[in-house]
Amino acid sequence: MTSPALPPMYRDLDFNGPLSDERAARLIHSLGSLEGHHVVDLGCGWAELLLRTLSTEPTATGFGIDLGEENIRHGRAGAEARGLADRVELEVGDVGVWKGAPPDVVFNVGAAHVWGGDPVAHTGNALTALADLTRPGGRVLFGECYWRRPPSDEEIASMAVIPRDQYRPLPDLVDFALSHGFRLYSLSEATVDEWDHFENGNAWGMEDWIRDNPDSPDFDEVVRRTDAHLRLRLHGRDLLGFAHLTLLRV
Ligand SMILES: C[S@@+](CC[C@H](N)C(=O)[O-])C[C@H]1O[C@@H](n2cnc3c(N)ncnc32)[C@H](O)[C@@H]1O
Repeated sequence: MTSPALPPMYRDLDFNGPLSDERAARLIHSLGSLEGHHVVDLGCGWAELLLRTLSTEPTATGFGIDLGEENIRHGRAGAEARGLADRVELEVGDVGVWKGAPPDVVFNVGAAHVWGGDPVAHTGNALTALADLTRPGGRVLFGECYWRRPPSDEEIASMAVIPRDQYRPLPDLVDFALSHGFRLYSLSEATVDEWDHFENGNAWGMEDWIRDNPDSPDFDEVVRRTDAHLRLRLHGRDLLGFAHLTLLRV
């Protein structure tokens, strides 16, 4: 399919994931003192969490990288509007080939796939890369999906795009993270309300496009994609969780 000009997700969402303002503030608090620290966000989207983090500490600096040009353009405009442009650099690029200075704090939220490879290996690839990047005492904010309960074969079949072994139960996700050389500093799970807010904001852009483009050659494909996403959302509702782990490198 060609790429129809769907409304960008940031039109209706602050974060490209299930995260409320209140929990975002608590996550930033879990990072400890950021005085003089350099914060790197790998797969930053439009960098909302990075910008909010830098807003809390005037001596902190930041760097974010994402493949999406429009995301980065929006992130830069946000940095400008908040007076952060001289303290944050946002770059269009591939995390898989990025080489940067060791940061004090690293974010990788909803973006374990940025190092590529088989989806079943994404979480492990991300944790290995994050451990390599972080100095002892440094912190990592890692946001990842987990199974709230074991999925049935029918559920896995209905969700099609998610291999069963891509995710783990939450205790196993935490143990897996710790086995990469971290201590757990903080753990928080997305609520159903945060998921609904995220999925509704995601759907609005698609539904508005469908309403406004009945004659587009992409119409059938966008409807198919939107309906498939709704199936995934409904079947995943009590099944798929999302957790933020604040990890301390040992
Ligand atoms: C689910 S979004 C999460 C964005 C952001 N961390 C947040 O929580 O709002 C995943 C992001 O990963 C980016 N991405 C995917 N592959 C990438 C790669 N190889 N290098 C950099 N960014 C990538 C996508 O463009 C997308 O913005």
